[in-house]
Amino acid sequence: MVKTIFIGDVQAGKYDGQEVELMGWVKRSRGSNKIRFVVLRDSTGVIQCVVKKDAIGEESFEQVKGALIESSIKITGIINADERADGGHEMIASSIVIVGSVNPQHPFPITESAMKAADGGETEFLLDNRHLYLRTSRMTAMLQMRSTVFGSIHNYFRDLDFTEYQAPNFVAGAVEGGSTLFEVPYFGKKVYLTQSWQLYAEAAMPALERLYTIAPSFRAEKSRTRRHLTEFWHAEMEVAWATNDEIMTHGEGVVRKIASDLLENRSTELESIGRDLELVARYADSPYPRMRYDEAIETLQGMGVDVEWGQDLDYSKEKVLTQDFDVPHFLTHYPKIAKPFYHRVDPDEGQYVLCHDLLAPEGYGEIIGGGERTWSEAELLARLDEEGTDKAAYQFYIDTRSYGGVPHGGFGLGVDRVCSWLTGADHIREVIPFPRDSRRVSP
Ligand code: 4AD
Ligand code: MG
Repeated sequence: MVKTIFIGDVQAGKYDGQEVELMGWVKRSRGSNKIRFVVLRDSTGVIQCVVKKDAIGEESFEQVKGALIESSIKITGIINADERADGGHEMIASSIVIVGSVNPQHPFPITESAMKAADGGETEFLLDNRHLYLRTSRMTAMLQMRSTVFGSIHNYFRDLDFTEYQAPNFVAGAVEGGSTLFEVPYFGKKVYLTQSWQLYAEAAMPALERLYTIAPSFRAEKSRTRRHLTEFWHAEMEVAWATNDEIMTHGEGVVRKIASDLLENRSTELESIGRDLELVARYADSPYPRMRYDEAIETLQGMGVDVEWGQDLDYSKEKVLTQDFDVPHFLTHYPKIAKPFYHRVDPDEGQYVLCHDLLAPEGYGEIIGGGERTWSEAELLARLDEEGTDKAAYQFYIDTRSYGGVPHGGFGLGVDRVCSWLTGADHIREVIPFPRDSRRVSP
């Protein structure tokens, strides 16, 4: 059973006047004892099929009447172009086979009335039924756009001769602070799920010089916000001999490419979920300004926000700051005290580190964190001591500096965050098939 004809192609006019066989799922069905209108969906679109008892015979017609929503069917008929039809085409059916039926005792549970009646509210109801909710047109569009985003990231780096490189997910130490580490029992020892690929990428930096990955990272984030998951997809890159400015150029490059690929390949999907294409075009076409952390603090203080120099900016502050941005902005030169040991201290002004966050507009906030690394062994040891971090788990990392350390840097981009910001989703969990947060690990 090889499927060669997709509804999207039929709606694009490729089969007008021809007899074809379509395979898909029943989205809606209504009609009388003589004629039924079956709206068929597949991964590429929907089409109305007109099914007459006279044309398909009594027995088949009874089966069609019994084919509930989400039954899978094969249906053959002539394709007619018709302006009045949804999508511009309809099928006049000549035969139909029910492939996978739906038991009338258990009809498809996701309905308007079930959502309204759900005890825990609509959102929880849809999350409980996530495995079925994936079939809705909104989720289908989200997943297709997500795939485009992954493809853009791979293409950006591969076109520049970066090597794709994998790091372990079981690790012995933290990268981004101990408070968000997931502990895992490991044959009588305790290990952690990785928060970032970075430290292991730095070990391979002298071998590969330009490397990247897209992999899951894990953070035990207790707070549930519209931009936090406990398991998220992290696109990270590392480059030898690079400065903070060069790394930012790649961050800007990859985000602009993602926006431009979405516009080029997924404008229908973007529009279907109500996204303003002009905004996405602006993010693809405009340069991203760079400003220093100090300026951001002054701006926030000027807006009456209670924030002090030295604090890392949390979501509440980034939200206010980015509300009026028209394009993403880089914030650079955060205070040393706000960032972990691996950030390189600015040799000219020792209270800052040579780092950046890329903050997305529309009140979205951080989508990238990166910068130059502490690359000299002496400085690294001093930074670990200053933080009071036990060096045992980092001996391999220290070694990478002992044998021919070089200036280098990289960044991490939250892929789910970028999907959610660019698609205009209300919440990060809308863009990932099975979102994980502090309360939910099922289905
Ligand atoms: O800023 P973060 O913590 O930086 C790092 O992990 C560096 N080691 C990356 C590097 O330089 N290679 O995380 C990077 C990005 C954030 O900007 C954010 O987009 C995303 O990862 N991120 C999350 N996305 C979803 N849910 C979470 N809980 C996230 N935590 C971070
Ligand atoms: Mg960060």
